[in-house]
This record gives sequence, C-alpha cells and structure tokens, in this order.
Amino acid sequence: MIQRAKISIIGSGNVGATCAHWAAAAELGDIVLLDIVEGMPQGKALDLRQAGPVERFDCNLIGTNDYADTAGSDVIIITSGLARKPGMSRDDLLARNVEIVAGAAAQAARHSPEAVIIVVSNPLDAMVYAAWKASGFPPHRVMGQAGVLDTARYRTFIAMELNCSVEDITALLLGGHGDDMVPLPSCTSVAGIPVTHLIPPDRLAAIIERTRKGGGEIVGLLKTGSAYYAPAAATVQMAEAVIRDKKRILPVAAYCDREYGIGGLFVGVPAVLGARGVEKVLEIPLSAEEQAAFRVSIDHVRELVEAAEKLMTGR
Ligand code: 2OP
Repeated sequence: MIQRAKISIIGSGNVGATCAHWAAAAELGDIVLLDIVEGMPQGKALDLRQAGPVERFDCNLIGTNDYADTAGSDVIIITSGLARKPGMSRDDLLARNVEIVAGAAAQAARHSPEAVIIVVSNPLDAMVYAAWKASGFPPHRVMGQAGVLDTARYRTFIAMELNCSVEDITALLLGGHGDDMVPLPSCTSVAGIPVTHLIPPDRLAAIIERTRKGGGEIVGLLKTGSAYYAPAAATVQMAEAVIRDKKRILPVAAYCDREYGIGGLFVGVPAVLGARGVEKVLEIPLSAEEQAAFRVSIDHVRELVEAAEKLMTGR
C-alpha cells in the first residue's frame, strides 16, 4: 500500500510556515508544524489548512508544541533558531542556534528514527553538523539546504541580466552557505549556452558578488529578519526529491569525507537526492581557481564546526 508521506517542520516562523505553504501546495504529504510558542503553530496550520478547499490541496495539517505528534515522519525540516538582523553575519547566530538545533534534532530523531533531516537554520553548514551529531543518524540521512537557494538567486540574477526566462538557466555552486560560497561559471549555462558566451566577465563577477551577499541584501531590506520565500521553496524542492524518490541532482550541504578531500564536514556539493537521502555525492573536476576558492570556503566551514563542537561538548 502506498502511504501518504509525513513531513514535520520544526520551527514555525516565517521559513517554517512558508515551507508548510509550499509543501501543501505541492501536496507532498501530511504536514506537522511544531514550535515552542503555544498556539502559533496551531493557528498557522489551521489557517493554511483552510486554504485547501480554495487552492485545491488535500493534506492534513496540524500545529503542535509536542514532538510526539511528529512521530513516524518521512522528512523532518529544521528551521528553528534565530534569524539575522541587519549588520549580523550568519556566523553571529552560532552560539544560540547550535543549542536550539541540536535539541530539535535529538527530539525529532527520537520520534522518527527512519526520517531524512533537512536543516535550514544558520550558520547552515555548522547547524547540519550539529543536527547530525545530535540525531545519531547516518550522514546520508542528514543534509542542509543552501545550494538550491544560492543557485536560485544566481539564476535569478542571470535571468534579470539577460532579460530571459529563469527556466532556461542551469547553474551550480559549491562550498558553505556564506559569503565565500563558490559559484561555478563553468557549470552555468543558458539554454545550453555557456554563460561566459553571453555575459562579459565584469558583469558576471558582479552577479556572483550579489549572489554571495544575496541573503544579506534581503536582511538589509526587511530589517526585522531574513529571507523566507526562496529558502522555503528551496527546502521543499529537496523534500520533494526525497519523498518522491526523484534522484534529483541538487547542490546540498552533504556529508563529505573522502569526497573532494574534505574530511568529514557538511558542505555544499552536487548530490543525488532520493528516498534514502543523499544517495551520492558527485565529484566534478575543478579549475585551480575554483579549487582555491572551494578550499577557503571549506576552511571557513571547518572553523565554524569546531566552534559548534566546543559549544556542544562544553569544551
Ligand atoms: C539566506 O541566505 C536565510 O541564510 C538564508 O537568506
């Protein structure tokens, strides 16, 4: 018998609630919105559920403060934690969010031991690591959302530059979800045409810079928090790849040990996503310049993970 999938979203702020919205619209399965704030996830879930008859999606949506209601989830999306305010980097969130995310992962994993966990909280790469440690899950069932969002920003800016459809742009980027992420022009094309044939180097460099600072640009505009429509859409695309076993190749923060010589960290790499989670990390050849930029990004992730480990172990 084919069962309905169950998706639990931990943290029901803007990102969590918008994940529920996109997931419901795609009828990915039944959805549980969880938060520590009483009434808020219940209210948002009921409100969204009442959109079903109008938007014609049919899924059960509940809000809760109790992890027991998440039991038996196929996918757990962790969005809990503080968001950035203007002037803050993602890294400034580390101390508060590591405790919140590790706690959420441990509780969610206990109730859904077979789930795939997708982490969205920042600083992303360190939070995935914390969630992995706290869950006790095998690494292929824990991943972080960053690359789909960063790539979507990059594709959007390229489409704006060329005044063409975003649908025709494919792109890839590597590394951590920070300002040193590594967009790869060699893997960016517009309807199959290499982007470097269409956009001059100085304009492409400006687009890459804007992509790197894409999260900060939105924080600066919103002033009270960070982006949520695109982060949530990106997260739900990953959840869909898992729930529907699509074998999509997406850039995700995946556990890499021997891959790219990374040595046991979660960083953004192209990976095959299916029912088992990260089913394969794809290793692609990089130019010397791309290698060097990737190294800088990995070193930054390593520093953050070391800081997160100290906080988690109290040493
Ligand atoms: C962003 O890049 C919130 O990190 C997220 O917008």
